[in-house]
Amino acid sequence: MKFQTLTGFIVEKQAEYPGASGELTRLLNDIGTAAKFVNREVNRAGLGDVMGYAGEINVQGEEQKKLDVFANEQFIAALTDGGQCCAIGSEENEEIIILDNAHSKHAKYVVAIDPLDGSSNIESNVSIGTLFSVYLRRTVRGIATIEDFLQPGRNLVAAGYVLYGSSTVLVYTTGYGVNGFTLEPSVGSFILSHPGMKYPKGGNIYSINEANYIYFPEGVKQYVRYCQEDDKSTSRPYSTRYIGSMVADFHRNLIRGGIFIYPATTKNKQGKLRLLYECNPAAFLAEQAGGKASDGFRRILDIQPKELHERAPIFVGPTNMVDKAEEFMQKYSPEFRLG
Ligand code: AHG
Ligand code: MN
Ligand code: MN
Repeated sequence: MKFQTLTGFIVEKQAEYPGASGELTRLLNDIGTAAKFVNREVNRAGLGDVMGYAGEINVQGEEQKKLDVFANEQFIAALTDGGQCCAIGSEENEEIIILDNAHSKHAKYVVAIDPLDGSSNIESNVSIGTLFSVYLRRTVRGIATIEDFLQPGRNLVAAGYVLYGSSTVLVYTTGYGVNGFTLEPSVGSFILSHPGMKYPKGGNIYSINEANYIYFPEGVKQYVRYCQEDDKSTSRPYSTRYIGSMVADFHRNLIRGGIFIYPATTKNKQGKLRLLYECNPAAFLAEQAGGKASDGFRRILDIQPKELHERAPIFVGPTNMVDKAEEFMQKYSPEFRLG
């Protein structure tokens, strides 16, 4: 049987890029290692004492669950130990975390991360995930600063996610296509299972929390109605699928063909999801898979972030579906344009 592990694959790909030095290889491998520890805890959730709240409020004012805290610690530990990352911006920490031990402080990369995405789904055994973005630092030497993180997504050198689902999958891109690896639990290795992922043609899924309908911009309301119309030539009405874990919704839509939307609302003009560690990784992966990501008006990857935990509305999926949603936003909701 021929199979390829994540480690083998990254090393092989790295050898194909002129000038690649192996640091990114090591960093991605470290993320994979931390993901295995998180996977182990996710699979045991409900048995041990990992369930329930940790008693802290995170920077978004949400209660942190124990698994959020555990996942955050694992990724920080693996990236610290690996020595290729000089700072981490995490959903769970208000400020950036400087890794200034002897081997990390001169490292080239910074990582923005949502260590545990979809945490409201933990106690119901529904899929959850991790999302990450990797940038080359802007500052050349010394201690990393917030400026190293405030870069538009088009500067990303790598991004991806881990989905702790019915099986555990790690999907990443370094700008040369998208590849997915499934964890073989008995061996503990991620094995290449989804090479060269692309959105299929003819997607007919839309994923949005429709309970917020009354707060949606008119453009989103009109787009949702469009999805529900009867038109055989465009496979409408589409199907609704919404898990409430962005990673899981995004992954299903990548495989099956569908648009994921977390829009601005009349209550939250910036939407809900975070630009640096939720929207940007999804956008980079979508573009690399032949799709598109927009805030309704602008390419997500062109947004210049001003803050670490900044939010952005997002429409992400196959290009034709995102184009259509943008058309409705521009026609019916121009007042929601942010920049
Ligand atoms: P997190 O668990 O990291 O806070 O993220 C939850 C996010 C995202 O995963 C999901 O798509 C969205 O929140 C769901 O929000 P609603 O419950 O408002 O639909
Ligand atoms: Mn999240
Ligand atoms: Mn989270």
